[in-house]
Parts: sequence; C-alpha cells; structure tokens
Amino acid sequence: MFKVGLIGCGNMGEAIVKGLSRKIKSTDIIVSDINPERVEYMVEKYNVAGSSSNRRVVENSEIVILAVKPKDLEETVSPINDSFKGKVVVSVLAGISIPKLKNLMKDSFIVRAMPNTPALVGEGAIGVSFENDSPEIKEKIIDLLSSLGTVVEVDEKLMDVVTGLSGSGPAYVFMFIEGLIQGGIKGGLSYNQSRELAVQTVLGAAKMLKETGEHPSILRDKVSSPGGTTIYALHRLEEKGFKDAVISAVEEATKRSKELSK
Ligand SMILES: NC(=O)c1ccc[n+]([C@@H]2O[C@H](COP(=O)([O-])OP(=O)(O)OC[C@H]3O[C@@H](n4cnc5c(N)ncnc54)[C@H](OP(=O)(O)O)[C@@H]3O)[C@@H](O)[C@H]2O)c1
Repeated sequence: MFKVGLIGCGNMGEAIVKGLSRKIKSTDIIVSDINPERVEYMVEKYNVAGSSSNRRVVENSEIVILAVKPKDLEETVSPINDSFKGKVVVSVLAGISIPKLKNLMKDSFIVRAMPNTPALVGEGAIGVSFENDSPEIKEKIIDLLSSLGTVVEVDEKLMDVVTGLSGSGPAYVFMFIEGLIQGGIKGGLSYNQSRELAVQTVLGAAKMLKETGEHPSILRDKVSSPGGTTIYALHRLEEKGFKDAVISAVEEATKRSKELSK
C-alpha cells in the first residue's frame, strides 16, 4: 500500500510531489495522469511509482490527492467512484465544494485544500477545510501538507477568501516587486541590482513578520523615523491608495472565485 496517490500530474501535481518527497519516501507515492508521458516524467524525475490507471492509484493508496482541472473532475472520478470507499481524498480543485466532492465519492473522507504556486519551492500558503472534525485525520493531513508550506485551517465557507488572498496573492506580490525594481532603475540602479535588492527586501520583511509575530504596523512604525525618508514614502503610498487597492484586489478575487464556483 502506498501512503499517497496523486491523480493529475500537471503544475500543481508536480509541486505537490516535490513537496511531499521532502516528508515521505518517494517510493511511498504513486501517481497517474491521462498522459503517459507525464507519468513517465514524474517517475524518472521524482522516483515515484507510476500508473496509467487512476483506479490502481486509488485502490493502492491510503490518501488520494486529486489535482486535475475542475472541468475534468467528474470524468476522472465517476468511472471509479466505488474505489474511494474508506479513503481520505484531498482535493486541490479550485471552487469545488466539499458537498459536491462528497456526492461524487460518497464513502470517502473529503479534505479540500487551496495551495498557491510558492508550494513549488516549499513556501506555499495552504488553506485547508475538512469534511468534519476528525482530529486524527486532521493531524495527519496538516502534517503531510506542511511539506508544501504553511497550512491554515479555515471554515469551508471562507475558501473563496483564501483564494483571493493567498491563492492569487503571489501575483500581487510580484507586481509590487516589479514596482520596486522599476523605482530602483528610475533612480539609476541596474536591473540586476534592483531585482536583487527588491526580492530580498520582500523576503526579509516577510521573515521578520513571521519570526517576531508582530503586527505589520508596529514593524512599519519602527522603520519610520521622524522626518526621515520612509515616512515621506508612506505618506505618498497612502495618498495613492496603496492599502485600499490591495484590500480591493483581495475582495475582487474573492468575488470572482465565488462566481467561478457556481
Ligand atoms: N496551478 C495553481 O497555481 C493552482 C493553485 C491552486 C489550486 N490549483 C488546482 O490544481 C488543479 C490542477 O491545476 P494545474 O494547474 O496543475 O492543472 P494542469 O497543469 O492542467 O494539470 C492537470 C493534469 O491532470 C491531467 N488529467 C486530466 N484529466 C485526467 C484524468 N481523467 N485522469 C488523470 N489525469 C488527468 C491533465 O492532463 P491534460 O493536460 O491532458 O488535460 C494534466 O496533466 C486544478 O484543479 C486547480 O484548480 C492550481
């Protein structure tokens, strides 16, 4: 019996296998995909077991991770729905609710997870909801998913907000970094100098927040000395509606996620 079976070896599927291989032996993972070349690629690159049969993956795994596109869900699970009995199924499919998943895989325990692309480098932010309160399954799944990054349990009705914040969030941060880089170039730094300084500034600020546990406004105040450069810059950001724009971005993405889930 394999510990984890993965169906769908696309971008997210690969990120998941990459992360999981840090936590469990790659030989404890089995994968399948509709494209035999993708399975072959995963077997060669990550030393996992591979199969062309989704049924074989489900029947031979304790935990099944579904990572196909939402449009392919029914076609993937309906022909093999009897094989999910007693399995823990973790779906990363955007916008597909636990009741809908449960309806397709009746005798399984459903977990819904929303990872983001930094999971590719082990620094994902993953929102997770469980079908019901089973401490043993929760602990096991949170421990497993933590190989992809930081896991936060949320009520399923807030999954669209998770999508709007951390799911789409990396794109907002990339845009912010792009702005920092262009600001540096405008001031005369080269692209490479600007990029290195901008990326490290964001990484360092995030790490400080994580390690100190402080509210962002406290750390912001600490770097704003009276009459100094930072307070002038912060005033300009407020004037341009910076924080307001970010809040609206999260709100807008949340709204769109709700629309797409219908
Ligand atoms: N990428 C992200 O940032 C991200 C973030 C959060 C959640 N997600 C979720 O992750 C899921 C996968 O996204 P992705 O970007 O990795 O998509 P993707 O690259 O298209 O990967 C899906 C893979 O599943 C394969 N597939 C399709 N039907 C199948 C079947 N019946 N049996 C086995 N394999 C099948 C696809 O093959 P074909 O290409 O031939 O169809 C493809 O290789 C989506 O549901 C998405 O909502 C993604």
